[in-house]
Amino acid sequence: MSATTRVLVLNGPNLGRLGRRQPQIYGTTSYEQLVELCVEWGHDLGFDVSVRQTNYEGEMVGWLNDAADSATPVVLNAAAWTHYSLAIYDACAQLTAPLVEVHLSDPLTRPEEFRHTSYVTPHAVAVIAGRGVDGYAEALAVIARLLGRP
Ligand code: DQA
Repeated sequence: MSATTRVLVLNGPNLGRLGRRQPQIYGTTSYEQLVELCVEWGHDLGFDVSVRQTNYEGEMVGWLNDAADSATPVVLNAAAWTHYSLAIYDACAQLTAPLVEVHLSDPLTRPEEFRHTSYVTPHAVAVIAGRGVDGYAEALAVIARLLGRP
């Protein structure tokens, strides 16, 4: 039995309002429920999952820098920052363990042109989009596979 691996699940702006925020697009699961689900899914894979959300870009950059220094795998829903943040691009570039990009909706099929660009994708080993909260389970499973977890 291998030691428990820490995984960070990081969420960007407005995702704290999950369940109340445009449920027709993002679903009815609340952010608090998402946190519980991620911890459970991670536990089943032998991961110790920390789930965080911030509306402050500098805080997110700090978390990504810490993940880089500690070689911690990251599941990242950078929300709107995905589409324009060079600070998030630069922070993702420094990561030293797998990064999986996740989105509840599928930005590529949404009508707003700005959602069709991602500054996270160039650094991600996988992009999971349009699967709702289950996408987070898939992202954790991708990390488990990459780390050779059973
Ligand atoms: C999102 C998609 C982004 O375009 C949007 O800005 C978000 C949420 C998603 O999870 O579908 O805030 O990342």
